[in-house]
Amino acid sequence: MLFQLSEEQLMIQQAARDFAQNELKPGVIERDEHQKFPAEQVKKLGELGFLGMMVSEKYNGSGLDALSYVLVMEELSKVDASASVVVSVNNSLVCYGLESYGSEFQKEKYLKPLASGQQIGAFCLSEPEAGSDATSQQTTAEDKGDYYLLNGTKNWITNGSTASTYLVIAQTHKELKHKGINAFIVEKGMEGFTVGPKENKLGIRGSDTHSLMFNDVKVPKENRIGEDGFGFKFAMKTLEGGRIGIAAQALGIATGAYELALEYSKQRKAFGKPISDHQAIAFKLADMATQIEAARLLVYKAAWLKDQGQSYTLAGSMAKLYASKVAMDVTVEAVQIHGGYGFVKEYHVERLMRDAKITQIYEGTSEIQKLVISRDILK
Ligand code: CAA
Repeated sequence: MLFQLSEEQLMIQQAARDFAQNELKPGVIERDEHQKFPAEQVKKLGELGFLGMMVSEKYNGSGLDALSYVLVMEELSKVDASASVVVSVNNSLVCYGLESYGSEFQKEKYLKPLASGQQIGAFCLSEPEAGSDATSQQTTAEDKGDYYLLNGTKNWITNGSTASTYLVIAQTHKELKHKGINAFIVEKGMEGFTVGPKENKLGIRGSDTHSLMFNDVKVPKENRIGEDGFGFKFAMKTLEGGRIGIAAQALGIATGAYELALEYSKQRKAFGKPISDHQAIAFKLADMATQIEAARLLVYKAAWLKDQGQSYTLAGSMAKLYASKVAMDVTVEAVQIHGGYGFVKEYHVERLMRDAKITQIYEGTSEIQKLVISRDILK
């Protein structure tokens, strides 16, 4: 077993680290405060090739492996999880879904601008009444011959107003339950498609989360992804990869908070010495470092399995379950180590703590990960 990154992976990691420090860190507190989408930064991420990392060069992607993607997610998330969630959704859910299951027409028309970062995409599965229970889709797509008529509402959609291309899951044959579900490509501007107000969130406040409303939207037949009834499998396969990206985001948030706490503990003095010299703090740091290392191994392993073409369903869910718990635990401890300073915005750790919580909720809650894991180990 080789625990070593390649030269290329190290270079990509460094590029992402530099970008996070130079481009994301300035202004991150203000963007969080005012819920400002990092539009300029996302544009630059596209120019760096970070929005279509695993897409082949044929479709304007960077042609890199999943481990490189995870390294980028980790570095960006150390500083700004609102920016990294855009990278995650565009890469793991939208580009991956289109490249793996889209038609040649769909790849040419929609994947190319998404992979090059000229446009960004959104993945629309969750609904007011269908979150974890994804088979209970209420959005309908009625087959009208040349087109589908789309009606319904989607909730909690990342990139909700900034995306140009939306992958929308909807029910076509209700009697067939999940086997009657389809996935469609919907363009911004299609008649009857409206975007609701921005959600006012606890964390990842810079990200752009909205409800979407579809009212008799005519979606051309060629915009259905895969065979009739493939939509639920499409969503599940796509989310599997998404979970690795979110696990890497959680790992980055934890690492960012840990590094700040480590630095602070060496500078802050109490009772005549740096607080890191007190075992009460040193032991906290030891626990945090160990948890982060364990999470990193799970996340990298899941990405490695994906790169080997092996099944990563179990590994991805384990990585997401554990890394998101570590993100929550470590960020809480980082605030604690900072004392009163941890409670104010200038020290960054309170934001990381708020951002950490979403990693236990989106792309399948922790309970969903336990469901996937337990089904696998008990089968
Ligand atoms: N790969 C391929 N097929 C899969 C699969 C996978 N990973 N997981 C399930 N399936 C298939 C099953 O094989 C089964 O197919 P057959 O009937 O042909 O055998 C079918 O899907 C139904 O599977 P289950 O009976 O296991 O379905 P379930 O309802 O019991 O549970 C679940 C499945 C794992 C709970 C699933 O519903 C799930 O993952 N829920 C969470 C959804 C989620 O993550 N939502 C957040 C979306 S993010 C978003 O929308 C917003 C955004 O901005 C990103």
